[in-house]
Amino acid sequence: MAFSAKGITKRFGPTVALDGVDIELLPGEIHALCGGNGSGKSTLIKTITGVEIADRGTFDFGGSEIDAADVTPASADHFGVRCLHQQGTTFGSLTVTENLAAGLRFPTRFGGRIDWRAARRQAVETLAEFEIDANPDQLLEQLRPVTRQMVAIARVLHQRSGEGMGLLILDEPTASLSAADVDRLHEALVRFAEAGTMVMYVTHRLNDLPGFASTATVLRDGRVVGQLARDEIRHDRLIEMIVGVSEEELMSASLSHELAAAKLEERLVVRDVAGGPIRNANLTVGVGEIVGIAGLVGAGRSSLLEMVFGTEQPTAGEIELDGEILPWRSGKPHDSVALVPENRVLDAAFMPLSLTENVVATTTGSCWHHGVLNHRAERSQVRTIIADSGIRAASEAVAFQTLSGGNQQKAIIARCLRGQPKVLLLDEPTQGVDFAARAAIHETIRSAAEQGLSVLVVSSDLEELVLMCNKAVVLVDGVTTATVSGSQLTTENLERLGFGEAIVDV
Ligand SMILES: Nc1ncnc2c1ncn2[C@@H]1O[C@H](COP(=O)(O)OP(=O)(O)OP(=O)(O)O)[C@@H](O)[C@H]1O
Ligand SMILES: [Mg+2]
Repeated sequence: MAFSAKGITKRFGPTVALDGVDIELLPGEIHALCGGNGSGKSTLIKTITGVEIADRGTFDFGGSEIDAADVTPASADHFGVRCLHQQGTTFGSLTVTENLAAGLRFPTRFGGRIDWRAARRQAVETLAEFEIDANPDQLLEQLRPVTRQMVAIARVLHQRSGEGMGLLILDEPTASLSAADVDRLHEALVRFAEAGTMVMYVTHRLNDLPGFASTATVLRDGRVVGQLARDEIRHDRLIEMIVGVSEEELMSASLSHELAAAKLEERLVVRDVAGGPIRNANLTVGVGEIVGIAGLVGAGRSSLLEMVFGTEQPTAGEIELDGEILPWRSGKPHDSVALVPENRVLDAAFMPLSLTENVVATTTGSCWHHGVLNHRAERSQVRTIIADSGIRAASEAVAFQTLSGGNQQKAIIARCLRGQPKVLLLDEPTQGVDFAARAAIHETIRSAAEQGLSVLVVSSDLEELVLMCNKAVVLVDGVTTATVSGSQLTTENLERLGFGEAIVDV
């Protein structure tokens, strides 16, 4: 039983998000859906799952043809469509059992009370079935990201209400996973596919696709620009189709200027800091310097950023900014320090508010005049920011939640820069961001550093650290064990050091 979509069209006001999209999936296929930020991937998925209603087109769910305008979440569910949306929902403060049960009909006892014993038993079965290494009573936030992601997938797959055809859709499931975790997730998906499930898979990590995806369909501006078969799926071909120019042209544009040598003046000093997962951290960031933090998930990278930001309290050591020790201010962020958090959706964005409100939040400063907010000045500033940061949006007034993932990230970085901090902390700055936007974000950060901004960046994408940073500090189990720069700053070295191994000198 196959799935196909024909002529799917969807407009949002002036934006044509999908323009006559055709796609077909066969049983057992892992079908990659590729495209730049805002190309329509999530919108296509939402029309298939009935979250958004398409304006035109038809779907064929395993032989049942249905007008795309008639699809509802209930009918998609009936046809066996299971989806993990881009900003998927799991609940960190609930247990594995509670998370798994949240997607199912809770087993109930007489009087409608939830039968937690039965729910727990089901959870144990589900964990075994999906080969997930977790305890049903653990809180989700205590699990490694890949395990959390597997629980989320198990939850959607387990919602099988009938013998539907089995289409599993994953919208960027690997955004916060390390390379090893991506492999584990892929192994699980290959197992599902071999059992006959169709998998539709969205990612910006194009290197993950060769050898894994059986087909790739590329969207650009809401249209299908082409399709590649398994043995045609290569990074350079995908880039060319996604962007419309060759990878070489793109790289030469983004690497046109070398990293400026950092000035030696020290701006940020982290000295013998401990607290939470951090056992002993030492590092310095010079004026205009970009410093990376590498290490495995769970090594304490985000906690270290939070301590510098002022929202997590160190229990030992000192953090110095321009020679002054930063005092603990009960979790209030330090002046002149800005953070782009890993979980931007929960921690940094105001989803229902407009793009303007999100860009100017906390920093309306220069637009206030005698206690009156000059909306016109604000609007024109925001327009400039949108243009400079390459944010793709129909206007500055659109709701933030309608922007594509990568465009949301550009806006949050723009907001942080607008506050003119001395130190910018970035946690996974280009997660969910397409190839071209990633280069644009690197460019923005680099030129801000040239103006004197000091940057501390955490990334699981080691190539990103190598491309962006003057030097990188490696964190292993809460201890900064090494600093590498110059010719030693390579992805291989960062990977080896992250696992506590010695590096190969070149
Ligand atoms: N609810 C909405 N209202 C208005 N515009 C929307 C809405 N949802 C999506 N859009 C617009 O439709 C276009 C396609 O967005 P979509 O989210 O499908 O992109 P995407 O390919 O998933 O991008 P990303 O890789 O960044 O996640 C974008 O221009 C986006 O701003
Ligand atoms: Mg998307």
